[in-house]
Amino acid sequence: MTGGVEAHGAANMHAAETVAVDIRIATPNDLAAIMAIERGSFATDAWSESSMAAELASPHGRYLVVERGGDVVGYGGLRAIPGAKDGDIQTIALAAAARGSGRGRALLRALLDAAAQRRVREVFLEVRADNPTAHGLYVSEGFEEIGRRPRYYQPDDVDAIVMKLDVRRWQERTDPDEEVRR
Ligand SMILES: CC(C)(COP(=O)(O)OP(=O)(O)OC[C@H]1O[C@@H](n2cnc3c(N)ncnc32)[C@H](O)[C@@H]1OP(=O)(O)O)[C@@H](O)C(=O)NCCC(=O)NCCS
Repeated sequence: MTGGVEAHGAANMHAAETVAVDIRIATPNDLAAIMAIERGSFATDAWSESSMAAELASPHGRYLVVERGGDVVGYGGLRAIPGAKDGDIQTIALAAAARGSGRGRALLRALLDAAAQRRVREVFLEVRADNPTAHGLYVSEGFEEIGRRPRYYQPDDVDAIVMKLDVRRWQERTDPDEEVRR
């Protein structure tokens, strides 16, 4: 294990949620497991193995995996170039059997924590307009729609919703210690 990531599952916005999710930094050895989830999650527009390998190796990113019982069941990636004030959630996906139990939210929060540690102020992402689950997750974490890219996802002809999150505001809402510090 190259490094642990403490995912805080309980937060002000979702006080009832107390997921304990096993999240760690991804390594090149995770490529096969990640690609299996990628292909299972994005039927028409999965990344190629070489693209994913390049992402995992990039010094400008932070990729995390979610484990359950020692198996990788999810992954997500942040792109944040050192010194830049903005970053991007590149991808996030859980194996179908691992969805709907809070792991996606915990993983997103771990990526946003990584952005905050890198002093990123704004995080951007794109989500398919026909993906209400992911869109709902992003909205509930505080992402706001800032535009649409018509027919961005091909060959499906689906619009991309472009969203932005103010990291500082997100931290204030989600860090349980914040109220004590204020
Ligand atoms: C999107 C994804 C990462 C979310 O992870 P998850 O573990 O399933 O989601 P969580 O259990 O953490 O739930 C987070 C929120 O997602 C939304 N959500 C989850 N399951 C949902 C469902 N079946 N229907 C509608 N919304 C749902 C809810 O807003 C939920 O918040 P709530 O529990 O407070 O209501 C996961 O479903 C996934 O991998 N989907 C396929 C790949 C994908 O679409 N990736 C995103 C590309 S932009």
